[in-house]
Amino acid sequence: MTAETKIRQPIVTVAGHVDHGKTSILDQIRGSCVAQGEAGGITQKISFTLFPRNEILERCPIIKQKKLNLEIPGFLFIDTPGHAAFSNLRKRGGSLADLAILVIDINEGIKPQTAEVIQILKINKTPFIVALNKIDHISGWRKQDEELVKSINMQAINTRQQFDEKLMTLMGSLHSHGFETSPFYEIEDFTKKVALVPCSARTGEGIPELVMTLCGLSQKFLKGKLELKPDAKGVILEVKKEKTISYIEAILYDGKLTNKDEIAIGSFGEPIIGKIRVLEEIQPLSCKFKSINEVHAATGIRLQLTESIDILPGMPFQVFKNNKDEIIKEFKKQITDNIQTDNEGIIAKADSLGSLEALLALLKQENIYVCRAGIGRIDKKDVICANTNFENDPTKAVIIGFNVSHDEEIKEMNTANIKIIEEEVVYKLIEKLKEYIENKKKEGEKEKLMKLATLCKLRILGQYVFHNSNPAIFGVRVETGRLKENCTLIDENGEEISDVKRMQADKKGIDEASAGMEIAISLTGTNFERQLKDKTFLYSDLSAGQFKEFKKNKELLSKEEIEVLQKISQIKRAKEPTWGV
Ligand code: GTP
Ligand code: MG
Repeated sequence: MTAETKIRQPIVTVAGHVDHGKTSILDQIRGSCVAQGEAGGITQKISFTLFPRNEILERCPIIKQKKLNLEIPGFLFIDTPGHAAFSNLRKRGGSLADLAILVIDINEGIKPQTAEVIQILKINKTPFIVALNKIDHISGWRKQDEELVKSINMQAINTRQQFDEKLMTLMGSLHSHGFETSPFYEIEDFTKKVALVPCSARTGEGIPELVMTLCGLSQKFLKGKLELKPDAKGVILEVKKEKTISYIEAILYDGKLTNKDEIAIGSFGEPIIGKIRVLEEIQPLSCKFKSINEVHAATGIRLQLTESIDILPGMPFQVFKNNKDEIIKEFKKQITDNIQTDNEGIIAKADSLGSLEALLALLKQENIYVCRAGIGRIDKKDVICANTNFENDPTKAVIIGFNVSHDEEIKEMNTANIKIIEEEVVYKLIEKLKEYIENKKKEGEKEKLMKLATLCKLRILGQYVFHNSNPAIFGVRVETGRLKENCTLIDENGEEISDVKRMQADKKGIDEASAGMEIAISLTGTNFERQLKDKTFLYSDLSAGQFKEFKKNKELLSKEEIEVLQKISQIKRAKEPTWGV
């Protein structure tokens, strides 16, 4: 070995909306057809591809032509499923990815998952380039030359116009997400602008340029950041547990690991120590693994451990050399420090440490507090916590599950007052959550408003007169709003009838009745035959002050309630024209 420091491959995640062509771009690079072989053409789990330096130079002659000095030993590409899991890829202090390729279908533009990826790239400050894929779909597009820029310039006028329009639209959208972009061939300084590389994973056009731009970006951003250190460090991606053995897929992002090593794996408690039984490494430009004695970062590995242990995806691991105290400290920084909760807030669950961290970071941006956070399915304890929250603040009686579902046992629990939201896409999850909180807040405000006074319209059920007078007892149906005890009723001419003394539903006394209910009410000092027999509707009486309060908060009222408010005001003004003005 020479004294010179070894440089590892940059880790590059390929992320973007479902079907925009992430796997196909990697297939072009690999010369394979993984996308076609996938069930339903959907990537289900994260996978990695090693792209060594010699292959880069061979497959992308443009790098030599442009006299680019390639100093890195290659790339480790990570393919992510369009749904969710991109955010799993975290390590201490930010993203596991050194760089990213954001894949956007040039014909479709920014979609929800594209926006999600952009947000996460922003949070992690990951440098990235944009692959504007599927240019071959632009009508009239022909591959005119091996070199993309020449090919673009040789397109028919109409096609070129469409291409330019799509490019400008995308540049505009990316600008509104906070990024200045330009086509790669117009960029002088990669630190100032994000490069757009038009390409087609179908014809291969633009793919060498994509790799070349990535090389340029690495040289610019990653100098000094890729030095290999001795200790093996990585992140767990997938875990399969069988009777006596655990199978793990992981990324080694630093150091050297051998098949004789013991590793310490992060958990919410003490680190878990496991002994490697079999070590396998991903083969260059392939999806196949091969058994090996020693691996160097950065690379994708598969491990079999000698014991079957519970390991959570997204957890960090390190080679273990009886340095438990040091590792506990290191893991604490990586795990618990990033899972900070507040005294009050909602409950958040996710499928891995990385996704939980990303979720918490996004919630923080939205000023949504979390009182309990964890990895795994939504369980009994989460429901108990949400029910406790309900008593203090119903807007916090919410459990969100990012890419996780719930335990069956919670079905037997009381969940009437709580809301459970499960989503695979973090972006949608947060949208739904915000909408729910907003609605709950409005409900709370409405509750307060409705406490101020009664707003309701009643239909007299003349066939149910139980007592004519002293008191008059008869049936009514609450058409709109809510009727409360002691509410004063008026008729359609604005004549005051009486206060509601008592109400009964199904022969039981109640103090409030909501829209749709049919109940019996009793009014003292009223004679049904004389005063009400020919009437159809009764309304709650309002003071001018109460009317103004309702009017001010009319966005909290339903359409029907607003109509009742208008009707009451008409009735009152017919008697007193300046009422409530
Ligand atoms: P997920 O993994 O499910 O998120 O999808 P993905 O982004 O990996 O997309 P994938 O590579 O599976 O491609 C989706 C579909 O688009 C497939 O039918 C591909 O053949 C097609 N496709 C991908 N790239 C191109 C392209 O450049 N041009 C055309 N015409 N079709 C493409
Ligand atoms: Mg895919």
